[in-house]
Amino acid sequence: MKIAVIGTGYVGLVTGTCLAETGNTVICVDINEAKVLKMQNGEIPIYEPGLDVLFLRNIEQKRLTFTTDLAVAVASAQIIFMALPTPPGGDGAADLSYILGAAKDIAKLVTEYKVIVNKSTVPVGTADKVQAVFAEHTSVKIDVVSNPEFLREGVAVEDFMKPDRVVIGTRSEQARKLMAELYGPYVRQGNPVLFMDEKSSELTKYAANSFLATKITFMNEVANLCELVGADVDAVRRGIGSDDRIGKRFLFPGIGYGGSCFPKDVQALAKSAEENKYDFQILKAVMNINEKQKTVLVNKLLSYYHDDLKGKHFALWGLAFKPETDDIREAPALYIIDELIAKGATVTVFDPEGMENVKALIGDKVAYANNQYDALDAADALLIATEWSVFRNPDFERMEEKLASKVIFDGRNLYDLQKMIDLGYYYNSIGRKLVD
Ligand code: UDX
Repeated sequence: MKIAVIGTGYVGLVTGTCLAETGNTVICVDINEAKVLKMQNGEIPIYEPGLDVLFLRNIEQKRLTFTTDLAVAVASAQIIFMALPTPPGGDGAADLSYILGAAKDIAKLVTEYKVIVNKSTVPVGTADKVQAVFAEHTSVKIDVVSNPEFLREGVAVEDFMKPDRVVIGTRSEQARKLMAELYGPYVRQGNPVLFMDEKSSELTKYAANSFLATKITFMNEVANLCELVGADVDAVRRGIGSDDRIGKRFLFPGIGYGGSCFPKDVQALAKSAEENKYDFQILKAVMNINEKQKTVLVNKLLSYYHDDLKGKHFALWGLAFKPETDDIREAPALYIIDELIAKGATVTVFDPEGMENVKALIGDKVAYANNQYDALDAADALLIATEWSVFRNPDFERMEEKLASKVIFDGRNLYDLQKMIDLGYYYNSIGRKLVD
C-alpha cells in the first residue's frame, strides 16, 4: 500500500519504518530540511534498539523515502498518517495546533479519497475537529481515523511489529477495510485489531497510559508504607502480582514515572475530565504523588547527611527516564541533579545513552564520566536513577576502590539485600529494609 507519514519524530519514524518493513511504500514528510537531508543519507535521528537496521534496509530497498514536500507525499498516498506533537498547552490541555494545521494543509492538496490517520495522542473529539477542518477546506471525501500508538521506547520496534492489539477508531466501512488490510501482517499471531468509534479510540489511549501510571503510583505508595512498617515491597509485589487479575507487570516501585507519555497523558486526561465537568480525583492524586515520589531519593540523602549536602560529592548512575533510551524528558534524574546542586553538592554522572541530551540541557552543571566506574571517583555515595542492565551486576570490588564511602542510594532496587549486607555496604533502596 502507499503510505505517507507526516512528522518524523519518534512515533512517525517508528511507524514509517515498520510500515515499510512489511512491503508498503512509505514517504515520510518533515518541515525540518536538515533532518530530512540526513535521513535521506541514511542517518537515523533517534536511538531506538533495532530501528536502525530496518531504517537502512528499507531506504536501500526504496520503500522508505523522505521529503519536505507535502504535496508529493499527499499525491502518492492512499493512507496519510499524522504523527505530530501534541505538547501540553499552558492550561495542561493538549495543544492541537500542529495537527489541525497539517489537516488544513493536507485538505488543500487532496484530489481523491484518502484515509487520514491520527497517530498522535489527542483528546476525545479531535477526530471530529480534524474532519471539520477537512470539510471546511475541501469537498473531496476523506475519512479521519483514530489509531493510537502504544509503543514503549526501547522496545518500540517489537511493539509495532507484534502489537498486543491495534486500536482503530472509525465508523467508515471504507476506512475500516483499508486499515484492516494495512495491519493484517502485524497481527498474524492472532492479537486483535479492535474497531470502535473515534472517541472511544481516543479515550483508550489516555485511559491505558493513565491506568499504568496509576498502577505504578499505587506501588510507589505501597513501597513508602513498606519502609514505615518494616515490610519488603519486593515480597508484596510478588505476592499481589501472582494474581492474574493484578498481573506482574508495572508493579515496580521507583522514583516516579517519567518520559514523554505518562506525565503528559495523565495531565491531559485530567484536563479533559475537567473540561467535561467531571472530577477525576484519582488522576489528581496520581500526579501529586508522582511529583512527591521524585523527591524520595534526595530526602533519603538529606536524612542520612543530617540535612547538609554542602561540599558532598555524588556519583549518579542513570539519566534517561528508563533504560534502553536516550530520552531524558521528565526524567527523575534531572530533578535529583537540580536538588543536589541547589543544596551545595557536586555530581558526576554516567548514562549509557543519555549523556549527550543532558549535556545539551544543563551543560557543565555536572561532570560527565566516561564509564560507570570513573563516575565513582571520590564520591561520598552512589545514587541510581535508571535501571540499565549494565548497572545490575557491577564489579563491587572495583566500586569500593573508587568510592570514598561504601554508600548506595538505589532508586530502582537493583541489588539483593543479602548481597549488600555481605559486601558491607550502606544500602538504601525503595520500599525495602535499610542495609546499614
Ligand atoms: C509508555 C507506554 O508503556 C506506551 O504504551 C505508550 O505508548 C507510551 O508511554 P514509555 O513512556 O516508553 O511507554 O515507557 P514505559 O516503559 O511504559 O515506562 C514509563 C515510566 O514508568 C518510566 O519512567 C518507568 O521507569 C516507569 N515505570 C514503569 C515504573 O516506575 N515502574 C514500572 O513497574 C514500570
